[in-house]
Amino acid sequence: MCGIFAYLNYHVPKTRRDILEILIKGLRRLEYRGYDSAGVGIDGGNNKEWESNAKSIQLIKQRGKVKVLDEEVNKQQDLDLDIEFDVHLGIAHTRWATHGEPSPVNSHPHRSDKNNEFIVIHNGIITNYKDLKKFLESKGYEFESETDTESIAKLVKYMYDNRENDDISFATLVERVTQQLEGAFALVFKSVHYPGEAVGTRRGSPLLMGVRSDHKLSADHIPVLYRSGKEKKSCSALICLCLCFYYVAYSAVIEHTNRVIFLEDDDVAAVSEGRLSIHRIKRTVGDYPARAIQTLQMELQQIMKGNYSSFMQKEIFEQPESVVNTMRGRVNFDNNTVTLGGLKDHIKEIQRCRRLILIACGTSFHAGVATRQVLEELTELPVMVELASDFLDRNTPVFRDDVCFFISQSGETADTLMALRYCKERGALTVGITNTVGSSISRETDCGVHINAGPEVGVASTKAYTSQFVALVMFALLMCDDRISMQPRRREVIQGLRVLPDLIKDVLNLDDEIKVLAEELYQQKSVLIMGRGYHYATCLEGALKIKEITYMHSEGILAGELKHGPLALVDKLMPVIMIIMRDHTYIKCQNALQQVVARQGRPIVICDKDDYETAKNSSRTIRVPHCVDCLQGILSVIPLQLLSFHLAVLRGYDVSRINKLHFSISSL
Ligand code: F6R
Repeated sequence: MCGIFAYLNYHVPKTRRDILEILIKGLRRLEYRGYDSAGVGIDGGNNKEWESNAKSIQLIKQRGKVKVLDEEVNKQQDLDLDIEFDVHLGIAHTRWATHGEPSPVNSHPHRSDKNNEFIVIHNGIITNYKDLKKFLESKGYEFESETDTESIAKLVKYMYDNRENDDISFATLVERVTQQLEGAFALVFKSVHYPGEAVGTRRGSPLLMGVRSDHKLSADHIPVLYRSGKEKKSCSALICLCLCFYYVAYSAVIEHTNRVIFLEDDDVAAVSEGRLSIHRIKRTVGDYPARAIQTLQMELQQIMKGNYSSFMQKEIFEQPESVVNTMRGRVNFDNNTVTLGGLKDHIKEIQRCRRLILIACGTSFHAGVATRQVLEELTELPVMVELASDFLDRNTPVFRDDVCFFISQSGETADTLMALRYCKERGALTVGITNTVGSSISRETDCGVHINAGPEVGVASTKAYTSQFVALVMFALLMCDDRISMQPRRREVIQGLRVLPDLIKDVLNLDDEIKVLAEELYQQKSVLIMGRGYHYATCLEGALKIKEITYMHSEGILAGELKHGPLALVDKLMPVIMIIMRDHTYIKCQNALQQVVARQGRPIVICDKDDYETAKNSSRTIRVPHCVDCLQGILSVIPLQLLSFHLAVLRGYDVSRINKLHFSISSL
């Protein structure tokens, strides 16, 4: 994961100091995306003479956090920080190494040559970079880093040096480069040959532009210019202030501009003389020939931490409200009905399908695992739950009468998006379960459910998980609303949803108790989490949260698999958390508990409030309220969300910095 950020000012003078401050601030907002190195690329030179003659580009790159880069920027003796730029593009990057160790030379921006004629920042992975590198080396280009990105910087110079006419545009050059690239990317380019111009493009990684103008924008759409079609002039009065970026830094957006354009795959967006144009090679079926300038609807308080120490903590405590927001206007508790507007035109087709395939990554995948059983029960259809990357690796057979669900908080996860396109090509009906309106997945699916959990800023997904869970349960209920035999069960589940917010509040009241548990565990190396049935997903999700936030090893184990190997790990030293609820797996879970105790394990058990039997065999219990079995997983996961948060704090991690403040937008 890397973060990219660019800032262009057009006829709004800024000093070099201002520009560097804006770039560094932008990187701070993206720091959660990568923190092993960072860099910026700005115009160099120090005097007016330089301004009117040859331009130059200065790169400042450092290993370590953005703070280290900031210190390095302040140490630059040879840069006049007071020099003013009327028009200027600065680009910035925060890196999490994929190719090559963290070092200044491997950091972005990458350059085409020693004169920094072209520089580029990149999020994603170029899979054919070795072939490109070999080709460019054969043409005499010398590589200095071990990264895949450097081949892009060299390739754009190669295209420039071999151009057929002198007035080739920056956008055309970049378009030619992207035609040679395989993999996923969001890119922003800067060049001495195109001063004050910016070009950004994407494929498989999200890229967004924030626009602001002191003039009234004369359009709310930017027409797409197709190379093969009749050239239109770019949008008439869009004088940009344009910052591009990966994901939404909501706070920055709201602070400066809420006008944004989401680029589509293979769009090449260019800003030249303050005008934005969007280019594509050719028009493809279903491609809308304009990009809307959208207004982000977001209240400032939605993205403020309030009294919480971090967004993660805030979002855990928001769950009583976020699940209500997911159900609002959709579940009628008085007559036990469910309405999902986004599916109403397709529900009959879904009811006739061959099977349901739920496809996602990480926590969103766990939401699929958590609801699989209730989906199978209420829809009476085969349900497959797939990790998007593995689904693609296997070239999984998909048919026209399959219904494929794409579960994603962000709506932008590359593997999930690629799996969506794969399923669409094979004619399946595609359904999005997303939290981000306007995201690629919500736009590209045939229909879907927006989970309405509100912005999730903490990098560890918490409230999105419980809202995805509720959304999938609502879908299951809708699928069987005309089945007479299902009505008693439907009523039971719907009434379970009614009381769910209050029960979540009761679980959150266990926070102090869980903090004490975290104090006992935080110095351990590893934690095992065991359960089965509805709670297998809780084990996987709890272990993922612990790994991700606390950097401790943790493993979610299906209790039914204990005797097939994992039991060997259990002894009196290994912390074991077990989830044992009064459902159809209760007796089997008791057996697992006995096996752990027999190996001198001292299990910590998450169980029903009044389960004194289980308590007798446990070293500690976390007692949660009881609810209908298929929703109990929402109540069993919250203690583990809280535990991971407290463990992270006790282990010295600054959870408040671990945010997915998405793309950062600023303005002139
Ligand atoms: C874990 C987490 C990730 C995401 C995964 C998919 O806390 O946040 O595992 O769940 O990267 O992201 P989305 O849901 O945005 O597709």
